[in-house]
Amino acid sequence: MSDLAGLTEQARAAIGASDDLSSLDAVRVHWLGKKGVLTEELKALGKLPAAERPAAGQRINEVKAAVQAAIESRREALESAAVALALEAGRIDVTLPGRGEHRGTLHPITLARQRIERLFRNAGFAVETGPEIEDDFHNFAALNIPPDHPARAMHDTFYFPDGRVLRTHTSPVQVRTMLSQKPPLALIAPGRVYRWDNDLTHSPMFHQVEGLVVGEDVSFANMKAALHEFMQGFFERDLALRLRPSYFPFTEPSAEVDISCVFCEGQGCRVCKHTGWLEVAGCGMVHPNVFTACGIDAERWTGYAFGFGIERLAMLRYGVNDLRLFFDNDLRFLRQFTSA
Ligand code: FA5
Ligand code: MG
Repeated sequence: MSDLAGLTEQARAAIGASDDLSSLDAVRVHWLGKKGVLTEELKALGKLPAAERPAAGQRINEVKAAVQAAIESRREALESAAVALALEAGRIDVTLPGRGEHRGTLHPITLARQRIERLFRNAGFAVETGPEIEDDFHNFAALNIPPDHPARAMHDTFYFPDGRVLRTHTSPVQVRTMLSQKPPLALIAPGRVYRWDNDLTHSPMFHQVEGLVVGEDVSFANMKAALHEFMQGFFERDLALRLRPSYFPFTEPSAEVDISCVFCEGQGCRVCKHTGWLEVAGCGMVHPNVFTACGIDAERWTGYAFGFGIERLAMLRYGVNDLRLFFDNDLRFLRQFTSA
């Protein structure tokens, strides 16, 4: 028999010297594998006299168990060292400042809408909303636009198969509010509207703000003053404002609202097509038929309404020349807007 004590010492030395799991495994194969040193010792037992075999066998098995245990404890040590190393390598300092940090901003249309809402709230207007999917009654009929009315063609409507529509303007919120609240009323209704329209200054989805004031002595002059005040607040400057006769089925009389050009101060430039004026809204006195459709006594109450596009006002305020920039979501464009 070999010198088992010496072999044990050799095995322990080899185990201690393995500094990673694969060299440890090679040591295991060398000592305990099918053709390993200790396996060969066991096989050699047959050559011993029968009387010596049990003791020798027991001795070899003790050595095997000791080597096995030494390998296991070395494996555990190596594995936890590997975990500790990985943890150390993956360590992050959560107190370091971030890299490439960008502060988000609100979309310019949102900023403009908030600015518009603030100005009107300060003037005592409530802010109302309505659904973007409307029925014929609210989008058209109650607004004095009966089924065969030519004004329906002006709206380039998106229809659903069941006859409902994507609202073509925010005016249906006038109807909804007059049906659910009693006058006197002063409100604006901002929101998305949809039309089959697409070019440099028209997009299929855009935003409007509706205005509605109903009272016992509300006049055309009150409307002009409110719009003038708002436009000066929105553009933060003195502006001239004029009303031009126009037509909307739901107002009578109706007018287009022009302001003096904010780029050339009315001198004439490309933006105002050398007229010195910019068309910014439609307005008028609420048509009696609209009051009647909403259950409001048209003899007692009068009111004015107006509507304008948020994109149009935002383009003028920020000097944006292509409406589509608002919808491309190009960060180089959007990052330029940090406040309204
Ligand atoms: C109306 O929609 C009326 N409901 C406004 C109104 C309300 C008049 C209350 C009287 C009383 P109009 O179709 O002109 O009117 O649209 C109003 C504004 O929406 C336009 O001046 C324009 O600024 C904007 N607008 C219209 N179509 C588009 C479009 N496709 N893309 C962007 N803005 C648009
Ligand atoms: Mg118009």
